[in-house]
Amino acid sequence: MFNLFQRKLKANPIFAPLGTDMHCHLIARVDDGAKCDEESVECLNTLKAVGYNKVIITPHFSSRFFNDEEDIQRRYAALRQLADEAGVEIEIHSLAGEYRIDERFGERLANPRFLKLADKYLLTEFSLHQNLPGVDETIFNLQMEGYEVILAHPERYPYLNPIGDRMEQLKNQGVYFQVNVLSLGGFYGAEPKRRAYQMLENGWVEFIGTDTHNPMYARALIDISHDRKVARTIEKYEFLNKTL
Ligand SMILES: [Fe+2]
Repeated sequence: MFNLFQRKLKANPIFAPLGTDMHCHLIARVDDGAKCDEESVECLNTLKAVGYNKVIITPHFSSRFFNDEEDIQRRYAALRQLADEAGVEIEIHSLAGEYRIDERFGERLANPRFLKLADKYLLTEFSLHQNLPGVDETIFNLQMEGYEVILAHPERYPYLNPIGDRMEQLKNQGVYFQVNVLSLGGFYGAEPKRRAYQMLENGWVEFIGTDTHNPMYARALIDISHDRKVARTIEKYEFLNKTL
């Protein structure tokens, strides 16, 4: 007989080949990620359960979440202490930011204190809803300043659909692409899923991130850890996560 309780799947450690999750929002109450310490701990435990052994924490820095790097550094230290006390097993490796190139990004550029991945990569994102002017030029300027620019979840920007010249131009310009693993399971809908797989086939994807925000994402990660196509994808391609 069908039993509702049997629906609670055990996590499968399919992300072990990646080693490091390099995109998540697990400092509580600083953006639209974890809302409380318990949520942070639950998500960290899930990342470990699905196979990651390290995680880099990447809160939003945007016009909406106009976070301050020093304040975030203090809260990051508190998260590490919390995780320690809660017996979290995943290594909280380092802190970076996910910087949205939007209306107030110029203020950050004028006084750069960017929190980078591996002291090298700047994780950026675009507006999810509208194509803001000057974005490509900003990326170019960042590269001229010596930043290695990663674009978070390129598959999630509907205005970049279909994959066309602009995506190719960003790739040719040396922008790294980071696809969200949950896109591969259809978490954001059929189109982002299709685009994510297309980008992988094109050889355009250097990084995979979970972009975990809260326990709903954690449950989706456990579900997707049973997706064979995703497991094969993780094994098939060479990603740079391990180098972080
Ligand atoms: Fe994110």
